[in-house]
Amino acid sequence: MIVGTTIKALLASAQQELAQIDTARLDAEVLLAAVLMASRESLYAYPEKQVPPPLIADFQSLIMKRADDFPVAYLTGSKEFWSTELMVNQYTLIPRPETESLVETVLDLIVVDADKHILDLGTGSGAIGIAVAKERRLCHIISSDISIEALAVAEANANRQQLTNIEFKQSDWFSGLQGDYFDLILCNPPYIDSEYGGFIDTGIRFEPRIALDGGYLGIQAINTIIPAACKHLNTDAYMILEHGYNQADAVRRSLTANKFVDARTIQDYAGLDRVSYARYP
Ligand SMILES: C[S@@+](CC[C@H](N)C(=O)[O-])C[C@H]1O[C@@H](n2cnc3c(N)ncnc32)[C@H](O)[C@@H]1O
Repeated sequence: MIVGTTIKALLASAQQELAQIDTARLDAEVLLAAVLMASRESLYAYPEKQVPPPLIADFQSLIMKRADDFPVAYLTGSKEFWSTELMVNQYTLIPRPETESLVETVLDLIVVDADKHILDLGTGSGAIGIAVAKERRLCHIISSDISIEALAVAEANANRQQLTNIEFKQSDWFSGLQGDYFDLILCNPPYIDSEYGGFIDTGIRFEPRIALDGGYLGIQAINTIIPAACKHLNTDAYMILEHGYNQADAVRRSLTANKFVDARTIQDYAGLDRVSYARYP
């Protein structure tokens, strides 16, 4: 139960209510700022400001959901990725900071004025494709997903950025991409082991299972995607995949077995193996 009527008191009370969450204070601030339609900084500028009762009730309701692990991004409807505020909902994975390592890898592979044809396979909220479309304006990006609901969010996010070099296609991996060939295929696939206990007792239970569950050992989707990708690559093309911290060897093996060359792995900001890529000669 949240007590208090001022910004300062409400934040202190919410922080206590969320005590079991590492980011309790931050979450309380983000949620109160969202309810007040104000910035987080303004909470510190006006700590003694009274909050009207209906807004206290809204805040209380969000804090109760957060206390049950419901993700902050779904409560606010947005998440920042690559300095862009993206809309998210329960049909889209919440973009993760480690996925920015994949974007960095892509940008290192293509010069600023390149006009490559790029596929963002399993686009979710559109995070990767939109970041690359913004950074490489002459490239043409197709962003695909099996989820029509996720695609609607991704397209709305791209429209908000007024991007004209990105298009969206519904496709079960490559089945809806017949006749499409790419210079780069980017993919953050589902790569968590189906038996991972967190699907039951952590916040990821609120995210779409199809976005996270990579089957047995988490590697089944990756093993489906890599051989299928070969039929959609131009010569001298790249495949770039995000994966679990312990899947780099398996991913590079699969790339090499499918005639890719120069397979490499990149670490994320936490120093964990996170992105592997290789060239299709
Ligand atoms: C890990 S999420 C990545 C989302 C987004 N690219 C990101 O990095 O935030 C995997 C995405 O793959 C999509 N997906 C799962 N199975 C698929 C399939 N058979 N065909 C196409 N997309 C699929 C999911 O809907 C989800 O959006």
